[in-house]
Amino acid sequence: MRKLTMAALALCLAGSAADARDKVQQQDLMVQCAACHGADGIARERDVPHLACQQGEYLYNQLRAFRSGKRPHKEMRYLGRHMSDDDMQVIADYYAGLPCR
Ligand code: HEC
Repeated sequence: MRKLTMAALALCLAGSAADARDKVQQQDLMVQCAACHGADGIARERDVPHLACQQGEYLYNQLRAFRSGKRPHKEMRYLGRHMSDDDMQVIADYYAGLPCR
């Protein structure tokens, strides 16, 4: 009986659990992005572009281009392979929404 209740509960929670998993995955990714692009989207290195307040659609398109290899770059391609379209959308929107410096 208890097992059944748990199963029912698990089913009800399945939707939000998937959302929660996505969020964790996206946060894990963004910690990595921050190492190069800055937590605030302002890069500290001269050869890394700022992402803060860039157009969201542009950022999303670049991430897709890195993943496909259309825009060649070793690190970005590697990271792109770990991102779903949804991750890219969320992360692009996040950086687009950060204030310009
Ligand atoms: C090892 C350092 C490094 C990490 C980690 C990294 N990037 Fe990058 N990123 C770069 C460099 C360098 C470029 C410039 C690529 C080029 O010269 O074409 C770049 C370019 C980009 C661009 C294109 C910007 C533009 O103006 O065209 C986007 C978008 C981007 N990165 C997003 C991300 C995201 C999202 C993450 C985390 C998942 C991430 N980057 C992690 C180094 C990094």
